[in-house]
Amino acid sequence: MSSFDPEIIAEIDSQRPKVPVGMLSREEKDRLIERGFLGLYRWYVAKSQVQRNWNPDKDFDWRAFRKDHNPEVNTILEGFFAVEQYVPDYVTKLLLVIRKSHGRSHFHIRWGSEEERHADLWYNAVLFSQYRSPEWLKEYMGQLRGQEWNLPWDDPMHMIFYTVFQERATQVNYLNTAVIARGKSLNPTFANSEDPVLAKMASKIAADEAAHYNFFLEGARLYLYYYPAEALEAMYDVIKHFSMPAGNLIPNYDHFAEVVYRAGVYGPREHAKDVVQMALSNLGVAGRKALEAGIKRSRLVPDENGNLRQTAIFDGLDFLTVQDKVKRLYKVIETHEREVGFWDVDPTEFVPNY
Ligand SMILES: [Fe+2]
Ligand SMILES: [Fe+2]
Repeated sequence: MSSFDPEIIAEIDSQRPKVPVGMLSREEKDRLIERGFLGLYRWYVAKSQVQRNWNPDKDFDWRAFRKDHNPEVNTILEGFFAVEQYVPDYVTKLLLVIRKSHGRSHFHIRWGSEEERHADLWYNAVLFSQYRSPEWLKEYMGQLRGQEWNLPWDDPMHMIFYTVFQERATQVNYLNTAVIARGKSLNPTFANSEDPVLAKMASKIAADEAAHYNFFLEGARLYLYYYPAEALEAMYDVIKHFSMPAGNLIPNYDHFAEVVYRAGVYGPREHAKDVVQMALSNLGVAGRKALEAGIKRSRLVPDENGNLRQTAIFDGLDFLTVQDKVKRLYKVIETHEREVGFWDVDPTEFVPNY
């Protein structure tokens, strides 16, 4: 039997520690994360252009958009419109923080172009609903853009987790709006809110948000895999202080929040269950309580070498699942690179964090 026998390799693998022991330098980890982001970004763009290349003007029958929606639906349309008006800030502020990363900064520009079409789509919806005049809409837009959105955190690691939760929350908002627009809401306020154009809009945008969520999830796993203790701390911070973007800038945001809450589109229940719990399980964390408990314990036993601290923190993280998912991402990147030819000259290869 040669020492390269797959069974022996699997046996050695299974005996490896379940938590990283810190063999890789920070420099090497940063290089690996950067490579992962670059491969992920190249794969993402190719897929996005083939599968989700829609246009906010021409792919919708705007003349057929309903002009008799109730005030609740109109409030929802205007609220989504308002949140997406800060896209220039969403793009520029984070871009300055991540500009040195090829994969992450170029992805961010692409992501911005997909958010820009959401802003235009909601603009069209508000305009064609004719609930407000075109003059009112322009003035409202000017009022919104008179303020600037700023980053909730100014480091790349916190922001990757912020975008994970924010994109998932946005996706949930649009999926639940699609339920109303298909006439399937159980809430009597929306018994007569069926609108095929709105249904198509909400599901197109929700598909974009799902793709964004997936990208940020894969990126967050790279941090969790190579910097587990720091990444869990960042994730904990983000969950604890999370709020939706621009809520503090939009006039009457409380009214919008109240309407989406009563509509079953988005409220504390959806946030806890469909956003936080879902994202945590996708990231290999048992739940918010497990994460909090692990972090609290780790703070009680600070260790300069990080050993005890890491043991405590790993009670809440399924590190092997994270590793499996990171390996799966590298397989996806490999397929793309083999197709293009990158693989022959400069392959993106998985390096374990043992
Ligand atoms: Fe969006
Ligand atoms: Fe998005």
